[in-house]
Amino acid sequence: MFLWKKEFELGIGSIDDQHKMLLEIGNRINELLINHEEDDDNYDEIFTVIEELKDYTIYHFNTEEELFIKYKYPEYDEHKKEHDDFIAYIESVNLENIDDNQKMFLKELLGKIVQWVFKHIITTDFMYKDYLLKLGMK
Ligand SMILES: [Fe+2]
Ligand SMILES: [Fe+2]
Repeated sequence: MFLWKKEFELGIGSIDDQHKMLLEIGNRINELLINHEEDDDNYDEIFTVIEELKDYTIYHFNTEEELFIKYKYPEYDEHKKEHDDFIAYIESVNLENIDDNQKMFLKELLGKIVQWVFKHIITTDFMYKDYLLKLGMK
């Protein structure tokens, strides 16, 4: 299970809520994978939630980018590039083609996604924290 830590908090409520939601979707996928038995046929369900994670990640990136534009954040381009590179990566993973060792593959994929997102939060997202807080964002 992926745990939320105080260190992940930016102090901007709407963004923190979205980051928590990403973790929550990650945990739902994790749960499905843990409970998955050899003969189960619930990959459709697992894929659906992975899609949900992708969609929510894109939605979250858009929220941040809209804020950057609104508040004229000077590091917009660099930040957006990280978002775009990550979207390109998750979109390059074609879940339809996964046959062998699905559970292990999906666990690894989920781990990679969650790791990337939280590294991004504590490094790149933290770079806009003070800028937006100073401008009155909460
Ligand atoms: Fe973020
Ligand atoms: Fe971000």
